[in-house]
Amino acid sequence: MMNNKLFLKTLKSVLDKENEPLSNYANMTAIINEFFDELNWVGFYFVKNNSLYLGPFQGKVACTNIPYGKGVCGTTLAIKKTILVDDVHSFEGHIACDSASQSEIVIPIFKNDNIVALLDIDSPKLNRFTQNDKNILEEACHILESIL
Ligand code: SME
Repeated sequence: MMNNKLFLKTLKSVLDKENEPLSNYANMTAIINEFFDELNWVGFYFVKNNSLYLGPFQGKVACTNIPYGKGVCGTTLAIKKTILVDDVHSFEGHIACDSASQSEIVIPIFKNDNIVALLDIDSPKLNRFTQNDKNILEEACHILESIL
């Protein structure tokens, strides 16, 4: 059973406004990977010119650029809300970077009301992400947003 309190406490102690933002993003991927089981990919995509490019991650080589509106990530960029996908095969237009991925969650990151990045997490298990995981991960993203 994942220790949610320790996860959030660890994030708060490692993420720091004094660090370069890239270092905070990178450490956050490592902390998520450490605390959550059954993941095969966790990382960030950054927003530039209304499109996405690959940021720090843990996992296999991934797509470098994702256009607005394409895949789960590009759709999250368009609707600016978390998308939880129980089965990636049923999401039309899903981009398979790692063929092991079965379920996925993508959460937008905001700075001054603008979307600046996305947190993307993939699992090799169907239905891996619960509403509770969504809540905890959104809280984690709020911690990151508070120091950006
Ligand atoms: N599956 C994502 C692409 C990114 S990889 O999962 C790392 C998508 O459909 O946008």
